[in-house]
Amino acid sequence: MLNRRKFNKYFPALLGTPLLLSCDDKPTVQSTSEPLIISTWANTNANTIAQQHLLKNDSALLDAIEKGVNSVEEDPNDTSVGYGGMPDNSGEVTLDACIMDKNGNAGSVTYLKNIINAVSVARKVMDNSPHVILSGEGANRFAREQGFEETDLLTDVSRTAYEKWKKKAIYKPEINIERHDTIGMIVKNKSGDLSGACSTSGLQFKTPGRVGDSPIIGSGLYVDNEVGAATATGLGEVILKSCSTFLVVELMRQGHSPDSACKEALLRIKKKYDINDLQVGLIAINKNGEYGGYAIQPGFVYAVSDAETTQVIDSKSIL
Ligand code: GLY
Repeated sequence: MLNRRKFNKYFPALLGTPLLLSCDDKPTVQSTSEPLIISTWANTNANTIAQQHLLKNDSALLDAIEKGVNSVEEDPNDTSVGYGGMPDNSGEVTLDACIMDKNGNAGSVTYLKNIINAVSVARKVMDNSPHVILSGEGANRFAREQGFEETDLLTDVSRTAYEKWKKKAIYKPEINIERHDTIGMIVKNKSGDLSGACSTSGLQFKTPGRVGDSPIIGSGLYVDNEVGAATATGLGEVILKSCSTFLVVELMRQGHSPDSACKEALLRIKKKYDINDLQVGLIAINKNGEYGGYAIQPGFVYAVSDAETTQVIDSKSIL
């Protein structure tokens, strides 16, 4: 009998709202209609923006990803990305972002200040500079030269949270922070090409100068147009030490499904580090349009869109 649960599962397009599916319940891990867009956390609005761009112009893959990620960077209610992101322990918001295209080109910014759309600066690094990463004041200077405006990234909410935190000033990364740490988006368009991007304000109340995994190619994001793409969220320090997204793509090259590649990359982290107090979430797509995700802790979700539907999937976890 087609009860409401089954109806929701098989006919998401008819409902008009994103669904929350358990990965175990998923009828398939293959997109039915491309483009395929997947993002860390419940970033359904970002997915829809990318989806709409791609439906109008399938070849504008990077524009679609950039606009999708920009929407999260501009959202003052997302306290882990762009405007409204939580500051470091000196009260300053600093941003990390990167972008990678189907040809293996990449651009990245680290420790960028006062510019909302860090991923757009990363794209300019890729397109308009001979480098891959620009950092700190150099990244800001480059951004100004490229026409970006500088603005205060603190909001009343993040300033108040910082003032409250400062009273005790104890640094401790939180697991699944408000269910939205970092946006990583990876996309396969209708023509079968892959690209991705990643943007974050990093760990809240971090030491000034700290850079996480998100702007580092092979850690926060990796794309190989022959094989697949992967992106990460969670505690950047362990992702950096494990080159997790590069590993996920290499595991897919060896025949792992996206789910299995993400799980194996997390098991490698588990072998070396105490994972009880940390979270890492990985998502991946392969060249066949299969997708998946895995996390260390329960509570990680990711958003999946194809040409018609958007779902929020409750990731499997190794704990
Ligand atoms: N994954 C985001 C960060 O650690 O900065």
